[in-house]
Amino acid sequence: MPLFDVYPKFDLQLTAAKGVYVYDANQQAYLDLYGGHGVISIGHQHPTYVARLTAQLNAIGFYSNAVAIPLQEVLAQQLGQMSSYEDYQLFLCNSGAEANENALKIASFHTGKKRVVAFRNAFHGRTAAALNVTDSASLAAPLNQQNFPVTFLDLNAPEQLQAAFRTDDVCAVILEGIQGVGGLDFPTAEYLTLLVETCQKHGALLIADEIQSGYGRSGRFFAHQRANIQADIITLAKGMGNGFPIGGVLISPTISPRFGMLGSTFGGNHLACTAAIAVLDVIETEALLQNALEVGQQLKVTLESLPQIQQVKGEGLMLGIELPFAIKTLRRELLQKHHIFTGASANPNLLRILPPLNITFEQLQPFVEALKKIHA
Ligand SMILES: Cc1ncc(COP(=O)(O)O)c(C=O)c1O
Repeated sequence: MPLFDVYPKFDLQLTAAKGVYVYDANQQAYLDLYGGHGVISIGHQHPTYVARLTAQLNAIGFYSNAVAIPLQEVLAQQLGQMSSYEDYQLFLCNSGAEANENALKIASFHTGKKRVVAFRNAFHGRTAAALNVTDSASLAAPLNQQNFPVTFLDLNAPEQLQAAFRTDDVCAVILEGIQGVGGLDFPTAEYLTLLVETCQKHGALLIADEIQSGYGRSGRFFAHQRANIQADIITLAKGMGNGFPIGGVLISPTISPRFGMLGSTFGGNHLACTAAIAVLDVIETEALLQNALEVGQQLKVTLESLPQIQQVKGEGLMLGIELPFAIKTLRRELLQKHHIFTGASANPNLLRILPPLNITFEQLQPFVEALKKIHA
């Protein structure tokens, strides 16, 4: 049976990984500045992560939410404390799209309303509700066309926000802490503050999609914490499990659950929780938020001094490097010639990097040197 061929791929198979490197069958090392779409937060095969998952697998790997899984409470407690959302509630699922799907449903259940405000260039996933708030018509199938109403706005445009709230039918505003696929733009602290005020005034909920920008990637636990605000709902996935599939929704204490409101067969299983707890432990003990902040800043300053680079966007270790030409060939060259994995975005001139949060500035030098050489 052939695979359903939906992914354009590099001609490369990986057989091993360690820290910030992945290896092919010939033991060729590649510097992983992409982490499989921003998933690898604490580095590949981190010893704590491997040991905890191995021990858990030897004890019990899975049971569903038909029974109590105390690891979920351990995870919720630690996540609340580390993210400064201590009094929030946690719902566990398996992916980013699923987290957003549930977040949008919660907002609609809670408010009784159904219009959503989203943003140009936003990406929130490919399932029905998440896709409906994603700004990409080409991803929608005919059956996606009959859906709840969405108003797309430009980021950081207060007058558009006011216009979107002329009617009081909005259940939620959803936005990324830093836009990933869209190209590394983000809401300013002032705009986030205005969003909270506007949502509160009109009985809508603010959903922060931190699936890519969260878990320390920006140098703060959540990127939206650049403002002194709290979102009503925060969605997580990617870096949360360092490769083990897990997603989560943080939900304000003002929102009440009821049995059957949400559900998932796999969500919050023993292995997934163990992976997520190991990630949080490593982030804390190795001070990875601090590392993301410092190394990201050093890299940004260094790259900004290269004459060929037009601008460096983003925060911490979620950076977009804008060049005066399309980066498609450069990306291939970085991989094949310099053995460095990088990412792309909707902006054809923007190289996106999402390295593990424990990368050092020294480990980034081959990337800096490659950029110097390619454009000299
Ligand atoms: C900001 C954001 N939200 C949601 C998603 C969807 O996540 P998943 O692919 O796990 O469904 C992504 C994936 O790239 C993302 O970057």
